[in-house]
Amino acid sequence: MQTILIATDKPFAKVAVEGIREIVEKAGFQLKLLEKYTEKQQLLDAVKDVEAVIVRSDIIDEQVLNAAAKLKIAVRAGAGYDNIDLKAASAKAVVVMNTPGQNANAVAELAFGMMIYINRNFYNGSSGVELRGKTLGIHAYGNIGRIVGTIAKGIGMDVYAHDPNVDKAAIESNGIKYVADVKELYKKCQYISVNLPANKDTKESLNFDLLSLMPAGATLVNTARKELVHEPSLLKMFAERKDFRYVTDVAPDCQEQIKAEAPTRYYATPKKMGAQTEEANVNAGLAAARQIVNFLTKGDKTFQVN
Ligand code: 3PG
Repeated sequence: MQTILIATDKPFAKVAVEGIREIVEKAGFQLKLLEKYTEKQQLLDAVKDVEAVIVRSDIIDEQVLNAAAKLKIAVRAGAGYDNIDLKAASAKAVVVMNTPGQNANAVAELAFGMMIYINRNFYNGSSGVELRGKTLGIHAYGNIGRIVGTIAKGIGMDVYAHDPNVDKAAIESNGIKYVADVKELYKKCQYISVNLPANKDTKESLNFDLLSLMPAGATLVNTARKELVHEPSLLKMFAERKDFRYVTDVAPDCQEQIKAEAPTRYYATPKKMGAQTEEANVNAGLAAARQIVNFLTKGDKTFQVN
C-alpha cells in the first residue's frame, strides 16, 4: 500500500488532518503523520518509505529528497514553494505542486488585523487612527492581493495595485486603480501590502530606494516572506523616517534592533500565522490530498510547479 505523509512543523488544525485522512484512506492509501518535529532527522526518517508528502513551510531540500527513495510527489499545502528545492526534485523525477489560492483569505485577513492593531496602538486604550480614506497599495495582485483589495474597498480605503503579470483591465474591473510603475505605487500609498512570491527577482527588492518613496505615515505590511525586504534598508528606514512603521507575519533577522529602537512602530507575529486558520488548513490540506490522489491514481499533474 502506498503511503502519504503529512510532515508539518506547524500542524494543521485537527479537522484538516481528519479530512485529509478520509480522502487518503478512501482512495486506498495509508496516511502517516509527522507533526511538530524538532530535528531534521525526524523528517529524514519519516520520508524514507513514503510515495507522497504534504508539507507547509517545511524545508524539502536535496538531503530530504535523497532520503525519500520512494517519493513521487511533494505538495506544498499553500502558495509559496520557496521551501522546496525544485531543481533537486526534478532531478529525482519528483513532482512538486502547490495549492494556489486555498489559504489566501486567511492571509489577507491577517494583513488587516495587523494594520488595525498598530493603528490602535496595540489596543492600549489610547487614541489611534483609522484605515478609512487612506491609500493602500497592493504589491502583486495574485490570489491574496485580490482579497486584500476587496477588504480594503469595504473598509473605504483608496486602493491601488501593481503587478506586471496582471492586465490593467483585470485590476480595474475590480474597482482597483492600476499602477504600471512600482515606484509610483510606493509614492502614492501610505500603506503597502506585500503579496509577492520570494524568488531570485524579488528577494531583497524592497530596498531603501523604493521604501523611502512612501508618503508620510508610511506603513509596510508584509504577510509574504522576510527575504523580500533588504534588511539594511529596513533599519535605515526606521532610523531616517520617524513616521515609518512595519507590520509583518515574517519577522526580519534584525527585529531585536528594530524593537529596541522603534517599539511603537513595529509589530511581528510571534510565529508565522497568516495561513493558520481552520478554514485555510482545511482548504489547503484537503486540496493537497486530492491533488496527490489524482496524481497517484490518474497521473493528473495540475498545479505542478517544477
Ligand atoms: C504560503 O505560502 O502558503 C503561506 O506563506 C503560508 O505558509 P504556512 O503554511 O507555513 O503557514
